[in-house]
Amino acid sequence: MTILIRGGTVVNADRAFRADVLTEGGKIVAVGENLEAPAHATVVDAGGQYVMPGGIDPHTHMQLPFMGTVTADDFYTGTAAGLAGGTTTIIDFVIPDPKQRLMDAFHTWRGWAEKAAADYTFHVAVTWWDDSVHEDMGTLVKEHGVNSFKHFMAYKNAIMADDETLVKSFRRALELGAIPTVHAENGELVYQLQRELVAKGIRGPEAHPLSRPPEVEAEAANRAIAIAGVLGTPVYIVHVSCAESLEAITRARARGQRVYGEALAGHLVIDDSVYRHPDPEVARAYVMSPPFRSSHHQTALWQGLQGGNLHTTATDHCTFCAGQKAMGADDFTRIPNGCGGVEERMAVVWDAGVNTGRLTPSEFVRITSTNAAQIFNIYPRKGSVSVGADADIVVWDPHGTRTLSAATQHSKGDFNVFEGRTVRGIPTHTVAAGKLVYANGDLRAERGAGRYVERPAFGTTP
Ligand code: URP
Ligand code: ZN
Ligand code: ZN
Ligand code: ZN
Repeated sequence: MTILIRGGTVVNADRAFRADVLTEGGKIVAVGENLEAPAHATVVDAGGQYVMPGGIDPHTHMQLPFMGTVTADDFYTGTAAGLAGGTTTIIDFVIPDPKQRLMDAFHTWRGWAEKAAADYTFHVAVTWWDDSVHEDMGTLVKEHGVNSFKHFMAYKNAIMADDETLVKSFRRALELGAIPTVHAENGELVYQLQRELVAKGIRGPEAHPLSRPPEVEAEAANRAIAIAGVLGTPVYIVHVSCAESLEAITRARARGQRVYGEALAGHLVIDDSVYRHPDPEVARAYVMSPPFRSSHHQTALWQGLQGGNLHTTATDHCTFCAGQKAMGADDFTRIPNGCGGVEERMAVVWDAGVNTGRLTPSEFVRITSTNAAQIFNIYPRKGSVSVGADADIVVWDPHGTRTLSAATQHSKGDFNVFEGRTVRGIPTHTVAAGKLVYANGDLRAERGAGRYVERPAFGTTP
């Protein structure tokens, strides 16, 4: 397929300029003014619109078995929803059970992901430690294009990594040229607070944020940063949700430590009042970790993105339907943790970021695509509208509006955390791997069209 995107303004992280974009064979082959349309080309009129690198969501969980159930979106439905929202690449997570070989889990996830409609790649979680984990980390980096490892500091008695595992895994990552990432929450504190709340009879979803106050997150963020600092590794902190974690990152960066932070679209615009919704089914639908926080924290997260101490925006897309969330109807600690957003992230961040004057269009590209590509080492194949890059492009109408709703979303979840929010700034066309997969509301996602993207270790030259 050959596509000419004509008459738009190309926005990259470094600049915006008027240009047409020609794609052929899955790659961008020309960017320039007044490009000639080849005879067989599909022409997309981008007049009055922005032409940007397709979004990269660096944090999703498709088809994840978690807390006794499996997420509603699989790799096909989840990536298709992403394409409808302008996201053309996801970084998902392989999460081995404790004692499971990393290689076994990796191959299981690779099999599940073959149905993906968009490109995907994996962080691999280190949930336990022995010599086989050391060995498998090496195999993953050297033979399978994995360059990031995830550590859950929460979820005690399940996938939580203790300090021994963190230290050994961070050290191994450094040796291999891979970057450690962490879910920063003190799992022991969460566990004890949960037990106390349940014992007091506070068992509804309103207890969820009480069991995970900002200090619980900040302690873990500080600990991960300290371990990384002592060992000399970079560290990437996923879903930073509170001012105190951001402060830890900001302090470390000011000292010259290479620390990166990710903000979720949901954490930027939704506050903790959702947990006190009179309908417990609605309140349960918002249960995710870390929880939504007060507006003071939202303000801080925006400042982090603006000031360069937070680098990426993600969703942690991890959908569970009402029936699944009801597993915790009598005990909030059993509510499967997770919310959706892969389809809405770009529009929510544009609307709340660019329309408010917090971000320029180039800064939007930086935090929705380019930084993720650079931090996880797939730039400029991804994250850039330039000759030689993958033809992953979103054509963006800054004047178009949409009201976000579970009734119209493509995700298989039955809830939308952004329900009723009207956003201005929406994708009109998405091109993924050189194919027009979304055009003015018409989603043409193709099962299995997505490719596994290998990410080389840092410090290696091609
Ligand atoms: O609540 C969440 N975030 N669920 C997904 C797993 C994780 O912690 O990222
Ligand atoms: Zn293999
Ligand atoms: Zn997490
Ligand atoms: Zn997650």
